[in-house]
Amino acid sequence: MKRLLRRKTVAELQMEAHTDNRLHRALGPGNLTALGIGAVIGAGIFVLTGQAAAKYAGPGIVYSFLLAGIACAFAGLCYAELAAMLPMSGSAYTYAYATLGEFIAWIIGWDLILEYLFAASTVAVGWSGYVVSFLKDVGINIPPEYTGAPYNHVAPADAGWNMWRLFTEGWVHTGAVLNVPAMIVVAVITALLVIGIRESAGFNNVIVAVKLFVILTFIAVGAAFINRQNWIPFVPPAQGEGIFGWGGVLRAAGVIFFAYIGFDAVSTAAQEARKPQRDMPIGILASLAICTVLYVAVALVLTGILNYTHLNVPDPMAVAIDSLGAQVAWLRPIIKIGAIAGLSSVILVMMMGQPRIFYSMSKDGLLPPVFSHVHHRFRTPWLATMLTGFIAMLMAGLFPIGLLGELVSIGTLLAFVIVCLGVLVLRLRHPEIQRPFRTPAFWLVCPLGALTCAWLMYGLPRDTWARLVVWLVIGLAIYFAYGLRHSRHGKGGALAPPV
Ligand code: ALA
Repeated sequence: MKRLLRRKTVAELQMEAHTDNRLHRALGPGNLTALGIGAVIGAGIFVLTGQAAAKYAGPGIVYSFLLAGIACAFAGLCYAELAAMLPMSGSAYTYAYATLGEFIAWIIGWDLILEYLFAASTVAVGWSGYVVSFLKDVGINIPPEYTGAPYNHVAPADAGWNMWRLFTEGWVHTGAVLNVPAMIVVAVITALLVIGIRESAGFNNVIVAVKLFVILTFIAVGAAFINRQNWIPFVPPAQGEGIFGWGGVLRAAGVIFFAYIGFDAVSTAAQEARKPQRDMPIGILASLAICTVLYVAVALVLTGILNYTHLNVPDPMAVAIDSLGAQVAWLRPIIKIGAIAGLSSVILVMMMGQPRIFYSMSKDGLLPPVFSHVHHRFRTPWLATMLTGFIAMLMAGLFPIGLLGELVSIGTLLAFVIVCLGVLVLRLRHPEIQRPFRTPAFWLVCPLGALTCAWLMYGLPRDTWARLVVWLVIGLAIYFAYGLRHSRHGKGGALAPPV
């Protein structure tokens, strides 16, 4: 029990942050905010918004965005406090190690793999949808069996909460072979990341500018065409568990929560930030605030110009613009190219975050040393990057966007719950530690953050819960088979007293 609860002390972590200089400290506040926006605005807004409005919430998706935004704001404040205090790569995993002990840290690290690695796959599938649609516009048709997921899942209606049945039954073969464009984009971005962080951040800044331009143009042009009739009723009447009504708004909030994921990716670059104490909170909170405003505006315009029933398509923003007629046809290719560029930058940041979490876990001995091997010339964790790329590629090739996105949302929400509780625990246990950024009214913000995130998890479908449970069970097996025995902290490092 003592071993499961062993913690790193904050002093130990801060010492590690100062002494481990193997990664390049190249990023300033501008780059970090861009990194956040680069990670945040992606398939969530470009693809899932339309699908969640059509399937779950109608125009009420606007409330879903506000709800998810509030949950993220609470969690973002908690992340900012921890990221400024412990400027380490490893994000929530590292924070949990200092606050809640090794076992919870492992769970969260394992859970973050769901977030980063699977998010990269999810977005790659969204990218593929826009690329295929763009190529079609210019007369290039890729056969659909090479642009879709071979597997999909329809939860068995009578499975109740039987996790095993929800996990194993209901799989359908769609007839597609593989989503080839999605796999290609992951492979290219993996190569870019192996080459180095500085180049990657520069590439990211350009794409973020393109993405913001496209979103703002969509809002500005679309606003003139809003037909208020499309907003009536704003929350369509309920049609079953999680389908329309307020239950649907909650479910859609869990689904489009995906759209906010990524501001926390900024924290995974803490060891590569020039002045982490100042720049981490700026990067996290600024990117979150900018995205919330944009999302609510896009959701209003999207559901205002085209009735939500038409939005269940792979490229809803382009379809909505299409519906406005020849007058604004010029905007269609711009949206598509912007989406394609924008989604690339999300994949980049996600795939950058994942190996850095592996890196931290491996340095702690919870994963084999190969995960923390840094390339002597590129100074990047190249082996972990390549492994991440390979798995993300497989997932993107095999599964549809909805399934992947919901799994990412539930995993990330769990991580956020733990982070909010971690801040609370650390404040109570170690009020004396110097905190360059302090979460305001922590006794209110931390519990509210944990509760709202848990509530969003509750709204997600049962088969998504089943996948989360299976994922955690596999993680526990690995921890007890490897991590528990190899933990470096357990072997040599000074142990924090057990709770
Ligand atoms: N928030 C990111 C997206 O929407 C993951 O693509």
